[in-house]
Amino acid sequence: MEVPVHVSIIMDGNGRWAKARGRERVYGHVEGVESVRACTEAAVEAGVKYLSLYAFSEENWNRPEAEVNRLMELMMEAIRNEVKTLMDNGVRFVVLGNRGRLSDKLNAAIDNLMEMTAGCTRMTLVVFLSYSGKWDILQAMKRAAAEKGSDGVQDLEIGDFDRYLVTAGIPDPDLLIRTSGEQRISNYLLWQCAYTEFYFTDVLWPDFRKPEFRAALEAYASRDRRYGKVK
Ligand code: FPP
Repeated sequence: MEVPVHVSIIMDGNGRWAKARGRERVYGHVEGVESVRACTEAAVEAGVKYLSLYAFSEENWNRPEAEVNRLMELMMEAIRNEVKTLMDNGVRFVVLGNRGRLSDKLNAAIDNLMEMTAGCTRMTLVVFLSYSGKWDILQAMKRAAAEKGSDGVQDLEIGDFDRYLVTAGIPDPDLLIRTSGEQRISNYLLWQCAYTEFYFTDVLWPDFRKPEFRAALEAYASRDRRYGKVK
């Protein structure tokens, strides 16, 4: 079976999952962390080289303060609790996004985990935090202009642009999964998903565990990727 090199996930439906159980939205996020753990394990087992997760968008800062704070706390807890498991399993941890908006404390914990797992080579787990695709393209354009000057920018080729995006060095996603029945990209990896295969499922994120992850990989294996060409 052909295994995608890079699987990316828009983790959606935590709030609805909690609401269906008469619980607060944050309860859905807590269970969602369990799905993160399960999918990370399943990805390593399957031989996926990059697993990336849309954990918090730039737009998510507009959610109620209590929910934002709880999500940031969950991120801290997950980082604290998972160091050993990530290292034991050879998983390199990377956070990408507008990190200037994160607290100093969270940034320090992220830097620490990134350093500790920097030498791990089995799989890279990328967590997108305070990220949006339009923000990424804009910051890339600004960096390219600063580096090359306005004349130099005129000579930029499409392939040269990748290295200014925060995802520089990471291959574009082969497969993008979105849970909870929504079928949209929501300002995620806009440039990077040019030829990505999309997989939509009605399963809510807290219910998306190993069997569901494997089903998505199977669906991917049956796709015929042509990149705009005739086969
Ligand atoms: C979407 O559900 C989920 C999020 C915005 C947050 C995802 C975060 C986690 C699973 C926790 C921490 C992650 C890591 C990497 C440790 P929603 O709240 O939009 O659900 P709804 O659409 O049903 O309201």
